[in-house]
Amino acid sequence: MISHRVTQTRPGETREASCLLCGGATTPFLDLGTQPLADRFRSPSDTSAEFTYHLEVGQCGDCSMVQMLHPIERELMFNEHYPYRTSLSSRMSEHFERTAHALVRRADGADPFIVEVGSNDGAVLRHLAVLQVRHLGFEPSSSVARPCADGGLEVIEAFFEERTARDVRERYGPADIIYAANTMCHIPYLGSVLTGADALLAEGGVLIFEDPYLGDIVRFNSFDQFYDEHCYLFSGTSIDVLARSYGFSLVDVERLPVHGGEVRYSLARLGEVAPARRVADLLAHERVHGLHSLDALHGLARRVDRNRRQLLSQLAHCRRQGLTVVGYGATAKSATVCNYVGIDTSMVSRVYDSTPGKQGLLTPGSGIPVVPSAEFGPPYPDVALLFAWNHAQEILERETAFTASGGRWLTYVPEVRLSRLGDVT
Ligand code: SAH
Ligand code: TMP
Ligand code: ZN
Repeated sequence: MISHRVTQTRPGETREASCLLCGGATTPFLDLGTQPLADRFRSPSDTSAEFTYHLEVGQCGDCSMVQMLHPIERELMFNEHYPYRTSLSSRMSEHFERTAHALVRRADGADPFIVEVGSNDGAVLRHLAVLQVRHLGFEPSSSVARPCADGGLEVIEAFFEERTARDVRERYGPADIIYAANTMCHIPYLGSVLTGADALLAEGGVLIFEDPYLGDIVRFNSFDQFYDEHCYLFSGTSIDVLARSYGFSLVDVERLPVHGGEVRYSLARLGEVAPARRVADLLAHERVHGLHSLDALHGLARRVDRNRRQLLSQLAHCRRQGLTVVGYGATAKSATVCNYVGIDTSMVSRVYDSTPGKQGLLTPGSGIPVVPSAEFGPPYPDVALLFAWNHAQEILERETAFTASGGRWLTYVPEVRLSRLGDVT
């Protein structure tokens, strides 16, 4: 069931590949060059060859899914080294607390059972536990699964797919809701996931997932949403087609203002739940705006190339002026930015980040030292390159002293922009 194409092409070379989901022909539209694993931070003493791959993005002409043309084996990414911690963002913690309550309201019946796929550090599960709701997390990265299980949450260290979903159905009974945030787009074998969801869900149960929205990526030129873990970039249209192919129907969509723009999709078995009006609205909106046209996607590729050139020249300008430039947020997304633009330690001397598992290490590919964000203080650098732009509100609210001291924020989404004093949005 699990198909992984591991054929690699070189940057500059393009090749038609077949769609990971439906086997249709894909058209490449964005080449982001040679990339490392975005969450594999390296020790300064590690001299081994770094794993790299060709990051090329295409769209399937049949099912319209935007996808990576050379996906990476899942065990290389999700394992005991996986450093990401959801709860390090206070805004995301609040988002997931609200979500946990909303899921419980949605489940509605007596003694509901809620399964979360990609439960990470328990940002949702811990609220379900407090509410005394039966829950189970699927989390293959032991770096995050173990501490949750040790802390008393119900988590199994496994990838969600048909086989593991069937096992859970046998051991725990049917689930009222299967929920996933920022995880479905990480899974190449979505056919197996949907078959597994069909096996695990109770009658009338729903599969709810939220992921970065292609429409917002095109609108904001957020090319850093493309990296190894983001195997797909979803839209209402592509999810609608996918759902139908596996006996499901897309019954609700909700735009979310997190991580630079996401959509929360709800799927139910065909005929079990009436679709909300806003599903047809979103599909119509995507059609009218030609979201899936090659014109739109090539337009994105041109703007991404423009941003690359402008960011490089802005950083070169800062270096010539003798300005100190640091990075803020060693995001997985920043691996794409650094390695596509060609950013190294001569342009960005270090990156501040709050994740313990990244601090003291070097950024993938670009080799920039990661230092604790608690050390971001006077004497401040002249410029901070805001890699964690999706957390801008939270960060700018905290770092007012930097801005007040004359520090400037450099951003590249949707355009390259160096803020003037008091000019930060
Ligand atoms: N839900 C959290 C974490 C997102 S990161 C949030 O929104 O912040 C993606 C998580 O999915 C990682 O913790 C990774 O280990 C996990 N993951 C990857 N593939 C998975 C799969 N097939 N089944 C379950 N979890 C998976
Ligand atoms: P994300 O964009 O994938 O959520 O990653 C955000 C990264 O930025 C993660 O490594 C944590 C880091 N970060 C900070 O360093 N400071 C902050 O205030 C926030 C919100 C995140
Ligand atoms: Zn397809």
